[in-house]
Amino acid sequence: MVKLLIHGPNRLAGELNVHGAKNSTLPLMAAALLCRSECVLHNCPHLSDVDVSARILRHLGCAVSWQGGSLVIDPRSVTQCDIPDGLMREMRSSIVFLGAILSRAGRAVLSFPGGCELGPRPIDLHLQALRKMGAKIVEDYGCLSCSTEGPLHGAAIGLSFPSVGATENIMLAGVLAEGTTVITNAAREPEICDLADFLNRCGAKVSGAGGSTLVIEGVRRLYGCEHRVIPDRIAAATFMSAAAATGGCIRLNQIIPAHLEPVLPSFEELGCCIEMEESSLRISAPARLGRIKSVRTMPYPGFPTDAQAPLMAAACVGSGTSIFVENIFESRYKHVGELLRLGANIKVEGRVAVVEGVPRLSGAPVEAADLRGGAALVVAGLAARGATEVTGVRYMDRGYENLERSLSLLGADIRREYE
Ligand code: UD1
Repeated sequence: MVKLLIHGPNRLAGELNVHGAKNSTLPLMAAALLCRSECVLHNCPHLSDVDVSARILRHLGCAVSWQGGSLVIDPRSVTQCDIPDGLMREMRSSIVFLGAILSRAGRAVLSFPGGCELGPRPIDLHLQALRKMGAKIVEDYGCLSCSTEGPLHGAAIGLSFPSVGATENIMLAGVLAEGTTVITNAAREPEICDLADFLNRCGAKVSGAGGSTLVIEGVRRLYGCEHRVIPDRIAAATFMSAAAATGGCIRLNQIIPAHLEPVLPSFEELGCCIEMEESSLRISAPARLGRIKSVRTMPYPGFPTDAQAPLMAAACVGSGTSIFVENIFESRYKHVGELLRLGANIKVEGRVAVVEGVPRLSGAPVEAADLRGGAALVVAGLAARGATEVTGVRYMDRGYENLERSLSLLGADIRREYE
């Protein structure tokens, strides 16, 4: 068993470079499949989800190799069009490969992603859109068999919810489709813009990324390019939460300040002082945090659901009552029970969590049940007095590159232990 052992509390101080965004890297790796020559993705984080995506690409027939922090993908030798069930289960978001495989091969066979740590993970919006673009999709025995007669065609697609994954799948299916695809109520996350930038650099014609209407004019061919993955805004928000929870003062480098704007008001409400520079920020926290009146998770540019849990861990040691409303996923309070073990005072009623700040947390053994919930336990452990053991480290390894090393650089007493 792998554990993170934390001795707290320790006021974080120092500076850190934020790694590339997991949620950009995965769709970019899928997008590489559409190219007729090698792609180089710089600033790729070394994460287990990226490894799973690399295994999917290799299974499909791509050559994939690391050169330092860059991932080199040669998609010219693709022969397969399926994703084995084991890989689908390891990473539910591998559904983002569907649009790209279908576009490239005219066929795709994937197992149904089913539920995950965050609750049910429906893909109805992905499938509706791909059907509208000419895909024939049969759902049988937990398996999705998709095919097209001839190339996919452009379509007008209105999403009932601005799903990030559905928007990405439609983009990947649309760039080589015949005609124009228009997505209304598209997701506006920075990762969508990163994918559009990459595709356009490869020769695609995608416009409107970052807004609610995306227009994709199909082209005949795409060629590989070199691209730098945007920084991980969720990892940055996690380190900001850790600084806040420990009364610390840290500087985060290699960030895009605009991407963090949705989280800044909450940290400021807690009493933190934030100074932005061109590609870095400095956050300094008071000895005792205040409270956040309310945080409602929303699609971008709202407060990101992925930052809810780490921020909640900081609010646990604030003074006063903070209210969280989770609007994106059904089952995103699994960290709450574990935060209670550390001495937090939180009540959950449906989508709402009410956090009564306590003067201090105390260390205890806790178990992560999902990626960002696990990060929240680490943040709380850094602020807690005494020893905290966090198990379920495999979840954190999905989204944070060497989390314990980054936090140690900031002065935390944290180490990984293998039993
Ligand atoms: C992506 C992110 C994830 C983040 C989420 C929301 C990746 C790899 N993951 O996940 O970290 O938490 O965006 O910002 O980028 N929905 C449907 N039908 C669908 C698709 C989605 O009902 O066909 C619902 C989901 O159940 C969920 C909501 O829409 O309640 C948001 O999901 P979506 O934006 O699709 O998230 P993901 O792309 O899966």
